[in-house]
Amino acid sequence: METLVFPKDFLFGTATAALQIEGGDTNNNWYQWAQQGHIKDHSSPLRANEHWKRFKEDIQLLAELGVHTHRLGLEWSRIEPKPGTFSQEGIEHYLEEISLLRKHTIRPLVTLYHFSHPLWFEEKGGWENEESIQDFLRYVRFVVEKLGHLVSDWVTINEPNVFLSYGYVLGTWPPGKQDSQAMIRAARHLVLAHLQAYTLIHELRKKEKEPTLVGVAHHLRVFSPFCQFCPLDHLASLLNDYIFQGIFLEGMGRGRFLPPLGVGYPMGKGRFQDFVGINYYSRDKIQFVWNPPELFAKRLVAKNAPTNNLGWEIYPKGLSLLAKRLWKTYRLPLFITENGTCDKEDAFRPQFIYDHLKEVSELIAQGIPVKRYYHWTFIDNFEWIEGESAPFGLFANNYDTQTRTWRNSARFYQEICRTRTITQEMLSRYVQSAYHSLS
Ligand code: FCB
Repeated sequence: METLVFPKDFLFGTATAALQIEGGDTNNNWYQWAQQGHIKDHSSPLRANEHWKRFKEDIQLLAELGVHTHRLGLEWSRIEPKPGTFSQEGIEHYLEEISLLRKHTIRPLVTLYHFSHPLWFEEKGGWENEESIQDFLRYVRFVVEKLGHLVSDWVTINEPNVFLSYGYVLGTWPPGKQDSQAMIRAARHLVLAHLQAYTLIHELRKKEKEPTLVGVAHHLRVFSPFCQFCPLDHLASLLNDYIFQGIFLEGMGRGRFLPPLGVGYPMGKGRFQDFVGINYYSRDKIQFVWNPPELFAKRLVAKNAPTNNLGWEIYPKGLSLLAKRLWKTYRLPLFITENGTCDKEDAFRPQFIYDHLKEVSELIAQGIPVKRYYHWTFIDNFEWIEGESAPFGLFANNYDTQTRTWRNSARFYQEICRTRTITQEMLSRYVQSAYHSLS
């Protein structure tokens, strides 16, 4: 394993989402989903990490970890509990939290929407309703007016493709539908909401000194044919790529609508992102199957590939493949807005971190401007329908006592943040067992 050295201006960070850590909120779609019994281990985001109460202690940990930046989400339902009625308490809480991050010189990257929204929004039909765009913009305006002096970096929407796939194709996430027409409607609204929010945030922050950076955190996967010699597997991989991520990259990045979202440029041609956010976890091997009209492909794991505790293939090379393609297409700075793994024993997480950072370091050496890396995640948290059973954290959490514990990975990451290097000596101390031998 090689020594890695990162540039002085490269930022290391951690990423979280409000619903997954805060706890204590009953006014959102995911609380309701949990109440309806959809979470595998019957846990609820009502508990999570009690971060809402314990944020000072958590920021202290982040400061000790030494991250340069932290990606945090805001809970819309806490800020706008009723349509058009904003909560002073909600926004002041975030003001305090973000001020504290800044006090520790941790640069905030704020996510405005990360899968969860107020119940009133869900009841109106969520993103399927055309009014969702105006509802979202009203919330964005309020937030940026209140927090814009402290926050220059924004993610408007996290992983629209994941939200839509689980919510409208598989039906395992709220709103629990299997309805492709509804999905396309919701997708259009999500894309338009981003395009308008992009312009609005720039407009609201135009007098601020620090340049405004707005983007999307895209969930991007590598799709490759299960069988190298099967043309239909090749075709199905390309189609998966196009439908799952291509239309969102083009729609949100350039305002260009491609079928089935539409055609043309509804907001005019332009640039609607200042960085491309990549949430990268895994690769899928695609096998063509003929089962019209719903399914044309099966997503499989490559034979003998290393996998994490959720069965996701660990495929570091994929990060480079995607980053190169995005750089070629958009010529904008790349932020790894999420990357991490589910590892209960913390057995292979250090190796996972090293292998992905090695890809980042090679990309930088090739002149590709990867500027930031956000590890998913700071602390074990409520992992959507997996509930409390899928630990992705650098820190472990005991949910009964709410005790946070440093994992080996956290110590490793701490040294990476401090020194912006990974030396042989660090590798020998932290990277004990490779996942290659575990799978
Ligand atoms: C991403 C989500 C994030 C977390 C990780 C494991 O798709 O954005 O909230 O669940 O996966």
